[in-house]
Amino acid sequence: MRDLVDAAIVARAKAHAPYSKFYVGAAMRDEHGLIHAGANMENAAYPQGWCAECSAIAHLIMAGGTRIKEVAVLGNGATLCTPCGGCRQKIREFAAGDVKIHCCTEQGTLIRTFTLDELLPASFGPENLR
Ligand code: THU
Repeated sequence: MRDLVDAAIVARAKAHAPYSKFYVGAAMRDEHGLIHAGANMENAAYPQGWCAECSAIAHLIMAGGTRIKEVAVLGNGATLCTPCGGCRQKIREFAAGDVKIHCCTEQGTLIRTFTLDELLPASFGPENLR
């Protein structure tokens, strides 16, 4: 888990969040054991920005991964930064319900670990369309 958290810290340093000043880093381990990270990217048309988890998912898929096996997220200070509702659904697309999501402080100390099922119970996913 340390490698995942360290990657999230490095990613957070690249966040572009001049409007909210809430800097988020996320890192995800894929089915090959590789880590992919991302940060939030805001812009002047506020609603058009996107979350750190989105950046990390895009990196994971573009690098050839297909499954999210573990996640770490961190925001400002010791604020509990759980993935937002939209990101929970985006993670759901590529992750099983028992995947662990580690929410950490800015410095990387674990605050709390959730499973995806805890954050998005009774979820709708790709299986529902089969
Ligand atoms: N943010 C994330 O990057 N991930 C989350 O799960 C929560 C919120 C970002 C979006 C926005 O750039 C800033 O944090 C404030 O909402």
